[in-house]
Amino acid sequence: MSSLQWSEELVLDLPLMDETHQEFVELLQAVHAADDATLQDCWNTLVEHTDQHFAQEDRWMLATKFASSNCHTLQHKVVLQVMREGGERAAKGELFVLREMARELAIWLVQHTQSMDAALALHLRRVGFDPVTGTVASPDNLPRDLIHGCAGACSGDDEEEAGQAADAVH
Ligand SMILES: [Fe+2]
Ligand SMILES: [Fe+2]
Repeated sequence: MSSLQWSEELVLDLPLMDETHQEFVELLQAVHAADDATLQDCWNTLVEHTDQHFAQEDRWMLATKFASSNCHTLQHKVVLQVMREGGERAAKGELFVLREMARELAIWLVQHTQSMDAALALHLRRVGFDPVTGTVASPDNLPRDLIHGCAGACSGDDEEEAGQAADAVH
């Protein structure tokens, strides 16, 4: 299977988020292209980048009325945990685990970007959130109550969403 390519389908019109996703695609391409000698280094770079990528989105959610236990953040936690476990198995010699995870991540990234991240980008635009300064230009558009779901991208069943995330990368 060829590796994931950056395309218009992944653009969400939120520059900092789009840049981060484009970097993710490039790092995943490097994993796909890596030989056995460089695979773990490429994987570790992807995991570190993903840690920052998810933390950045989690911060934006917390700044705009998402509950800390919202299902988007929960999915980030599950996926990052699975990626770290992949790194641990590779360190014991099971490199094939990383190659399987890389294939699944290419599918997962498209689904996640077009659902949870797309909903987040829409929400951030609606409230006038500036990712660089962290300011909200239209606080009147913030919901009164904390958001526990994904701002419209999921059923609101946190455990089911997290389970799907885990399935996607296993
Ligand atoms: Fe993202
Ligand atoms: Fe996300």
